[in-house]
Amino acid sequence: MGSTTPLADKDRIFTNVYGFQGADLKSAQARGDWDKTADLMKLGQDTIIEMVKDSGLRGRGGAGFPTGMKWGFMPKEPTPGRPNFLVINADESEPGSCKDREIIRHDPQKLVEGALLSAFAMRARAAYIYIRGEFIREAQVLEDAVAEAYAAGLLGKNAAGSGYDFDLFVHRGAGAYICGEETAMLESLEGKKGQPRLKPPFPAGAGLYGCPTTVNNVESIAVVPTILRRGAEWFKSFGREGNAGTKLFQISGHVNKPCVVEESMSISFRELIDLHAGGLKGGWDNLLAVIPGGSSVPLVPAEQIMDAPMDFDGLKELGSGLGTAAVIVMDKSTDIVRAISRISYFYKHESCGQCTPCREGTGWMWRTMEKLRTGDVDAGTIDRLFDVTKQVEGHTICALGDAAAWPIQGLIRHFRPELERRIAENGGQLEAAE
Ligand SMILES: Cc1cc2nc3c(=O)[nH]c(=O)nc-3n(C[C@H](O)[C@H](O)[C@H](O)COP(=O)(O)O)c2cc1C
Ligand code: SF4
Repeated sequence: MGSTTPLADKDRIFTNVYGFQGADLKSAQARGDWDKTADLMKLGQDTIIEMVKDSGLRGRGGAGFPTGMKWGFMPKEPTPGRPNFLVINADESEPGSCKDREIIRHDPQKLVEGALLSAFAMRARAAYIYIRGEFIREAQVLEDAVAEAYAAGLLGKNAAGSGYDFDLFVHRGAGAYICGEETAMLESLEGKKGQPRLKPPFPAGAGLYGCPTTVNNVESIAVVPTILRRGAEWFKSFGREGNAGTKLFQISGHVNKPCVVEESMSISFRELIDLHAGGLKGGWDNLLAVIPGGSSVPLVPAEQIMDAPMDFDGLKELGSGLGTAAVIVMDKSTDIVRAISRISYFYKHESCGQCTPCREGTGWMWRTMEKLRTGDVDAGTIDRLFDVTKQVEGHTICALGDAAAWPIQGLIRHFRPELERRIAENGGQLEAAE
C-alpha cells in the first residue's frame, strides 16, 4: 500500500496548476516538461505500455478503467488504411468537475507531451483533443500550446527528434454534455450528431472513422510524461492498493475555500477538506452530505464520508464513486431534495433521446423529484420513483441513464425520512405505501 498522507510539494505533477508561472513552452520546459522526450521514446512502445500498467494508473475521466490495460487493446501493427488514433477527452461537462480546464489553462504542455508519448505507445500517428465548446479561453491556450510545440519541432515530422511522425489536432465541441461520452465524442468528431454508439464494438476495435481508437481523459494523458520520468514505483507509492497515484481533487460547495488541488489518492475526506479547503462552513457538525465524484455519483451522508478514503474502492464501498473526484460538499443549510432535483433536471436536459428509458425516464424522474420537494405526491411515490430509477439503470445505450438514476437512488437510500416528512406534512398517508 502506498502513502495516503498529504502530498509533498516535490511530488506534485502539476506544478503550475494555479498559474503562478507562464503556460508558454519556455516556462513549461523550465518546469521539466519536454526534457529528453526522445530518450523516453527510446524505451520502446511496449515498455511504455508496461510502465503505465505497472504504475496502476486508472482513467481519470470517471470510470477508473486501468489506462495501461486499455492501451494494450490497440493493435500493435495497424493494418494499412486503418490507422490507430488517440482521442483526448477535454469535454469536462460533469457538474462539479473543473480540473481538466486548469491543466489546459496553466499546464498545457503536460498534455501535449503526454499526447505524443501516449500516442507513440499506442502506434497512433495522430491524436485529437476534443475540447468543450464553452472553454473558449482554454481552447485558445491549448491551440497556442500546440502551435508552439509544432514551431519548436516537438510535434509533426520527427517529433521531438524521436524519428516518429505525429500530429495533434484541437477540435472544439458545441457544448453538449453527452459528447463527453466516448462514442458520442467520436460521432461528433466525425461531424455527426453527438449520440452514443452501441457497444460492442468498442473503440479499440472500431472507433474514429471505424479505425482502432483509444479515448482518454486529459488528466490521464497529462500524468504520463511524469510517470515515465519518475517511474511506475514512484507513482504507485501514493494511494492504497489498486488506487495508485496523485489526483486532482475539485472541492466545491460549503467549504471555506473551494479549490482544485493535487493530493495523494486515498487521503481521508476530512483531511482533504481541512488541509486544502479551509474546513467546513460552520464546523464539522454542520456537514449534511457529500457528492464525492461529480453529479452522477450517489451522495454519501456525513457520518459515512468523514473518515473515508477518497479513492475508487473506498467510495465504491460506500455505494458511491470517485468519478472525476469533483467533491461537492453540502452543509445542513442545503435543501437536499432540491439539490438532487436540480441534478435530475440537468440529466433530463442533456439526454440525447436515443433510448426510451433515458428519454422518458429522465423527464419523469425530474418531474417527480420536483413534486417531492414540496411533498405534493401520494404515499407510494418514493417506492415508485426508486423502481423507475432501477428500470432506467443498466437499460440504456450509454451511462447517462445510470448517471440520472444514481443520485436519486442515493437520496432515497439515505434521506428517506426527509422525503417522508415532506409527504406527511403535505397531508400524504405514508402507511398506504406499505
Ligand atoms: C454521459 C457521459 C459523459 C462523460 N463525460 C466525460 C467528460 O466530460 N470527460 C471525460 O474524460 N470522460 C467523460 N465520460 C467518460 C468517457 O466516456 C470515457 O470513459 C473517458 O473519457 C475515458 O477516459 P479515461 O479512461 O482516461 O478515464 C463521460 C461518460 C458519460 C457516460
Ligand atoms: S442513455 Fe440517454 S444519453 Fe445515453 S444514448 Fe441513451 S438516450 Fe442518449
